[in-house]
Amino acid sequence: MLDQVAAGGRRRDDRRDLQAAGDQAGLRLRRLGLENGLPRDGDDLNRDPGARARATMKTRSGGLPMRSGLKLLSTLLVAVTLVAGPVAVGVALAQEPMQAGQNPTGQDPTADAVNEELLFKHESTIRGVVSIPDKRAGNLIQPQGREYRAFHERWLPWIAAVVILGMIVVLAAFLLIKGRMKSPRSAEKIKRYNVLERFTHWMTAACFIVLALSGLNYIFGKRLLMPLIGPDAFGTASQLAKYSHVYLAWPFMLGILLMLALWVKDNIPNRVDWAWLKAGGGVLGGHAHAGRFNAGQKVIFWMVIGFGLAMGFTGIALLFPFTLAGIHGMQLMQVVHASIGALFIAGIILHIYTGTVGIEGSFAAMGKGEVDLAWARAHHDLWVEEQQAKAAGGAHLGHPQPAE
Ligand code: HEM
Repeated sequence: MLDQVAAGGRRRDDRRDLQAAGDQAGLRLRRLGLENGLPRDGDDLNRDPGARARATMKTRSGGLPMRSGLKLLSTLLVAVTLVAGPVAVGVALAQEPMQAGQNPTGQDPTADAVNEELLFKHESTIRGVVSIPDKRAGNLIQPQGREYRAFHERWLPWIAAVVILGMIVVLAAFLLIKGRMKSPRSAEKIKRYNVLERFTHWMTAACFIVLALSGLNYIFGKRLLMPLIGPDAFGTASQLAKYSHVYLAWPFMLGILLMLALWVKDNIPNRVDWAWLKAGGGVLGGHAHAGRFNAGQKVIFWMVIGFGLAMGFTGIALLFPFTLAGIHGMQLMQVVHASIGALFIAGIILHIYTGTVGIEGSFAAMGKGEVDLAWARAHHDLWVEEQQAKAAGGAHLGHPQPAE
């Protein structure tokens, strides 16, 4: 019983504290120009002092009629308004230039909701005060988050779908119209990639495929996969996808660095590339000279390196929140990560096409590590000459032949 009385007393005291806190909060929001944006229970209590007085009394009295109290209070209110009103107007007018200068937005902080939007444009975060060590907990509103959410929920799925499906449609149309690129055959073979090169390629490729599929699940999974397999299976699959994405990112990044070290010297652009591009890579007829890698392959190589490093950097920033970037930076990192990811997938689809169905005899280069000599002469004639010159030099010096 005493407990209840004590508790009741405490509750009343608490309510008084809350009332004071509410007033302070109202004042703080009013300074921010926000009070009109936060209606409570459909009533804007801050705007209508009468309504606030009624609501306060309703709370304290538990809704009992208090006619005499009301009368007294309204008399007091009228008196206070009559005396304090002109004084307040005078003070406000006197302070007006100073307030306009203090307000960083230059907006009237007590104006309507249109100013709330203007305030959001000028302020990167709307903060409150917290006493706990994590000061980020005091962030009330982060206006950039709205743009980020609009990008993630509305624009990103469309951008990714257009880029990836667009590439598939273009390649399918190209295959239908032009067919596979035929290559001459011979009985001789020439070594194209050693074991380390092939291991690096397939390790990176395997990681990329899992990263791409799990990445696409972030964008489309909820919309496309969940309705098909149900929420439980989707939850399990997404968790697996998430772990794969996070852990396979590391061997993928290692693969990118190894590719850079192994192939950079053969991918420096030169004059031959320009001529290859002007000849349309031999696709439109005629012969285009090329070294170990032609201009098209060099574009793919530099895309892989550039996008791979960008994905690695932004991915690490997202994997360790708030270490490399704050909230704004992280949102930007995610926009970059997702956009480059979509372009990267489209670029690799093009690469897979040329490495398999697009160019006859190409897959053997990365599969077995050696290609038909006639194929090599047709696609990389300058490289074949170089290899044969080396082999001849090596044979002259007594070294074993590198090819065949
Ligand atoms: C599973 C799909 C893949 C297939 C079938 C494939 C096939 C091939 C083939 C046949 C080559 C040799 C081309 C030649 O020497 O003429 C090659 C080279 C290469 N691949 Fe892949 N690849 C795949 C995935 C990837 C991925 C995911 C990446 C990088 C993220 C990648 C990066 C490269 C690079 C940088 C080269 C050397 C330059 C070039 O030929 O463009 N590949 N690939």
